[in-house]
Amino acid sequence: MNKRTDFDIIDEVEQIRTKNNVNWMDILRLAFRHAPEDARKLMARVNEYDGRISALLSELSRNGNVEGRKTLIEGGEIYLRQLNLDNSLTHYLSWVNDEETTSYMAIRDKYFSPTDLQTYIKSHLDRGNYLCGIFKKTDDLHLGNVLLSDIDVTMRTAVIGILIGKEHWGEGFGSDAVKLMCKYAFDTLKLHRIKAGVMEGNVGSERLFEKVGFARKEKIGDISYYIKEGE
Ligand SMILES: CC(C)(COP(=O)(O)OP(=O)(O)OC[C@H]1O[C@@H](n2cnc3c(N)ncnc32)[C@H](O)[C@@H]1OP(=O)(O)O)[C@@H](O)C(=O)NCCC(=O)NCCS
Repeated sequence: MNKRTDFDIIDEVEQIRTKNNVNWMDILRLAFRHAPEDARKLMARVNEYDGRISALLSELSRNGNVEGRKTLIEGGEIYLRQLNLDNSLTHYLSWVNDEETTSYMAIRDKYFSPTDLQTYIKSHLDRGNYLCGIFKKTDDLHLGNVLLSDIDVTMRTAVIGILIGKEHWGEGFGSDAVKLMCKYAFDTLKLHRIKAGVMEGNVGSERLFEKVGFARKEKIGDISYYIKEGE
């Protein structure tokens, strides 16, 4: 039985197309440097990827598995879904490599290649963390991510982090996603306490956590810690 959904196939086509665009640019550069032999090798790779896209589009035309991806929790205009290595990373890559978006995050000085990002996602999956995409219900647009990590089942605690693509800042999606992840953590995972660390100067993040019921507890260095307790 074919387990791949239409969205799995579309995502893979998008990823391969992204790679192929890089191949095309490399070919052009080589051609400009008058290296026809190397250019021919790159052309072979382009053809190989084009062949794979053809096969995927053919699979899509015959597929018929319209089952959606598994939703962790939904509410209001959005739903949260665990990211995995098959996901399209186009939006996510642009966020983690954007200076303004990451200016108050631990990753702010790091450049992420697609492989780096896949390794990062895998490391969260391996540790049993919930690294969830925030998606808009109406069109499945990937708006940002919310992460529940450091889950301690004995102490019933975890740490939450949030990132919204800057084209959607100030639209309430960050608050809604944190509220939904907290609901999942308290109601389903039966946790008692969730912590968030906010770097000094990150006014938007401070406001967000206060708005959704976190209380500012302590400041260590330039990080303020916010806590929310379950009922
Ligand atoms: C911080 C961040 C998650 C906020 O997400 P968002 O979806 O824009 O937040 P919301 O729209 O839900 O806004 C929540 C509240 O914060 C306020 N707010 C958001 N950004 C703000 C800013 N830059 N300055 C002042 N207030 C801000 C909103 O007005 C709203 O308050 P209100 O309802 O009283 O008006 C988003 O800016 C972001 O992803 N930044 C980059 C990554 C990051 O820093 N993550 C946090 C790491 S701790």
